Order: sequence, then C-alpha cells, then structure tokens
Amino acid sequence: MPTVWSPSSPSRVVHADNLEILPGLPGGAFTLIYLDPPFNTGRKQNRQSTTSVRSNAPVDSDALGAHAAGTITGFKGQRYERIKGDLLGYDDQFEDYWAFLEPRLIEAWRLLADDGTLYLHLDYREAHYAKVLLDALFGRDCFLNELIWAYDYGAKSKNRWPTKHDTILVYVKNPAAYYFDSTTVDREPYMAPGLVTPEKVARGKLPTDVWWHTIVSPTGKEKTGYPTQKPVGILRRMIQASSREGDWVLDFFAGSGTTGAVAAALGRRFLLVDQNPESIAVMRERFAPLSEVEFLGPTIAIV
Ligand SMILES: C[S@@+](CC[C@H](N)C(=O)[O-])C[C@H]1O[C@@H](n2cnc3c(N)ncnc32)[C@H](O)[C@@H]1O
Repeated sequence: MPTVWSPSSPSRVVHADNLEILPGLPGGAFTLIYLDPPFNTGRKQNRQSTTSVRSNAPVDSDALGAHAAGTITGFKGQRYERIKGDLLGYDDQFEDYWAFLEPRLIEAWRLLADDGTLYLHLDYREAHYAKVLLDALFGRDCFLNELIWAYDYGAKSKNRWPTKHDTILVYVKNPAAYYFDSTTVDREPYMAPGLVTPEKVARGKLPTDVWWHTIVSPTGKEKTGYPTQKPVGILRRMIQASSREGDWVLDFFAGSGTTGAVAAALGRRFLLVDQNPESIAVMRERFAPLSEVEFLGPTIAIV
C-alpha cells in the first residue's frame, strides 16, 4: 500500500484510485473530509474488492464512533447488516453504487479526527438510501445535518417539479467533541430586510441548512472546464465552519480541486486524490499560483 502523505507533508494532490491510497493514510489525521463521489452511474461494481478491502484493512469499531460500539448501531453491528440487506434488495443499481461507496466511507470514518466532520455530497436520487445506511453504519447520533444546496439553472421539467438541488449529508466522528464554529461563516442577505434592524441587514444572517447558491457559471472566472466542478462558495461555508487554520482537509474525489483551492485560501492544508488524468491536469493549472503544492502519482510512494 503506497504511503503518500503524513501530517508533516506539504499540501498534496495524488493521482490514483482512492481505494489504493486510503488504507495507507494514518487514522484520525483529517479535521474535515468532503466527498463528492460520481453519481450513481449504474455501472456494476466489483463487490469482491469491497470485501477484500474490508478484510485487508479491518476497521477499529471504536474508530467508527466509540459511542456507537456496544449499542444497537455501529459498524458491523447486526442492525447495519440487516438494514443494508433490506434496503439494497429493492434497487440493484444502488446496491452496486453502495458496494463502491461503502469501503471508501469506512476509510473516511477511520481517517477523521475525533473532532472531525464528514460532508458527503449526493444527488437527490441517492441521498435517502445513503442517509439510512449511514445512520446505521456510523451511528445516528453522529448525524449533524442534511444540507440542501439549491440552485436555479438549466432546463426545467414541465411534468414534475424541476429538480434543482443537491443534498450534502453531514456526519461527525464524535457528537460530544466535534469542531463547529458558525461565527466564521460568510453571512447572507436577509430575505425580508424590511423586517429587521439596519444593523442586522448590514451584518447579514447566518446561513441555515438550505443554501441558495448559483452553480459555477459557464462564463465566470471560477470555471475550470471540469464538468462536475462545485462552487467555491459552497465549499467555503463547510471549511470555515468545520475546520481551523492549519487543519488538514481531505477530498478523495477531488475533480477540479475546489476543496483544495478553498482550503488553501482559508489557510488550511489539503490532501486531494483523483484517478482521472483530466482532473489532475485541471488541478495543476488551478494550483500553479500556490507555491507549496506537490503532485504525486500514479505510482509514487513518498512521505
Ligand atoms: C463529481 S466529481 C468531483 C468534483 C469536485 N467536487 C469539484 O468541485 O470539481 C467526482 C470525481 O471523482 C473521481 N473519481 C471517481 N472514482 C474515483 C476513484 N475510485 N478514485 C479516485 N477518484 C475517483 C472522478 O474522476 C471525478 O473527478
């Protein structure tokens, strides 16, 4: 298993299949993990590899929430296995998707610091199955928020309500110790400014769990050309609230590197992984102005 990072490394981008990298990273090292996996493509996943990852890198049940161990929830608890069996039986495509996601989420949990937070970005077709499975896998008391990112762009269906939102499920490693500071988050305009004082209007209001934010404009300066690029403004809120300056942020479905760009701008350090050469090329260009970012891969082992 290649070792590509330690807490004394500079910020890094690794070109690899994330499942080949994650088991070699030290547990508990990341304060924030943001994951924006590819949406369910319907492709068959290799379930055998899931099993072997789990047996090669057994997960410490304490690392999946000490509070969950010994209760009815928690990793490998009967309840998770039963819920998974019941739920996945309904939908073959989601079963394949979960076979892809599950070993990576287990690794994400192991890698989170005790005060850390996982943000899992999903589309509306997957979010509800995933919520039920994650509650059972990680412990329901670790669930912090369901964020709705609402946008308004592109063609609109005429035969149902146009679907214009993504869901971001937020789980903490330890509900008694997680870091969260909403005072540092960019505030937003009041919807009815006439109803509040001018001081409040000037200060703006704290965002709720519904985030209205435009997509990356196809003509704006933020655009990298990577098709699934997420807006800086969405990542800023998460990274501002759930990490401190100097903390490590991990994104192993990095795409255009939005997580790294925001982390660096906010004084955090980052480790990004993506298997797609186009993603790496986009990130090379995006991070060119940053002096301390290293690129590794696809087969390099350095610490
Ligand atoms: C939805 S995109 C992420 C977009 C990103 N949040 C951004 O703002 O640009 C998902 C990314 O996951 C990558 N990916 C998919 N499977 C992967 C794997 N097994 N290992 C590493 N990267 C993977 C894809 O190449 C793609 O770039």
